[in-house]
This record gives sequence, structure tokens and C-alpha cells, in this order.
Amino acid sequence: MNILVLHGPNLNLLGEREPEVYGRWTLADVNAAIRKKAKALGQRPRIYQSNHEGRLIDLLHANRKWAAGVVINPGAYTHYSYALRDAIAAIQKPVIEVHLSDIKKREPFRRVSVVEPVCLAQISGKGVGSYLAALERLRSSRAG
Ligand code: DQA
Repeated sequence: MNILVLHGPNLNLLGEREPEVYGRWTLADVNAAIRKKAKALGQRPRIYQSNHEGRLIDLLHANRKWAAGVVINPGAYTHYSYALRDAIAAIQKPVIEVHLSDIKKREPFRRVSVVEPVCLAQISGKGVGSYLAALERLRSSRAG
């Protein structure tokens, strides 16, 4: 029922950052939708955003005993951070990787996710709906 939600680098600029790709919702809008959905599902979210790889790893470590499941949008770290991948594998929790855009239909470097093999699922291309579907997925996996 306790769900850790992590937003990676540059997601603090949602709304002004490439709106044709990521939409016009701000991070505050996204977080409000996450909180509303979590409430409806009976989940307790802790939500953080960081532009720093080590901070995201520290948050996974610090919340590993509290969280039953994790939703993470690793931003560009998705495509090359073996350190983040190792942290996800280390905590032994169900982790759902989410993306606002459909990374499989973008530039070749974005089609590769180094975290996907250690996540329970990858949900991509649904905008804020990717996060909401991830909460539902954790619910049905009994983590949340
Ligand atoms: C993203 C996709 C990544 O390739 C990109 O670096 C991001 C956002 C998404 O949500 O669509 O920062 O994770």
C-alpha cells in the first residue's frame, strides 16, 4: 500500500519542456493526478523528483523497507544508468518503469531501457496515464 514514486531528470520542467512530446501538464498536475488515483486505490504515495542519479538511488535505498512497490520514470537515465538498474535489482520490490512518451517509437537511443529487465513492467506512451496504469499494475500485483 505504500508506493514510492520517483521522477528523474528534467521532469521538473514538465509543461514547458518540449510540450509537443511531453504535454502541457506540469509536474504538480501529474503529482495531483497520482495522489488522486492512489487515494482511490487505497495507496499511500511518497513522491520525489531529482535531477541526480545518486539521489534517485539514495531514495530507492532509503524507502526500500517502507515501500511495497515503486513507480519510476528514470528520464534519460533509463537508457544508460547501470547504477540505477542495480539499485532497482537490489531492493527486491516490484518496480514499474513508466514514460510519458512512447520510447519505442522515438530515437534509437531511447528504444533501449537498461532498467526494463529488472522491472516488473514498462508502461510507456500514455502521458500521465502511464503513472496511473502503473499504480493499478502494482495494485493487481498485490504490492499496493
Ligand atoms: C521519458 C523519456 C526519456 O527518453 C527522456 O529522457 C525523458 C522522459 C518519458 O517520460 O517519456 O526525460 O522518460
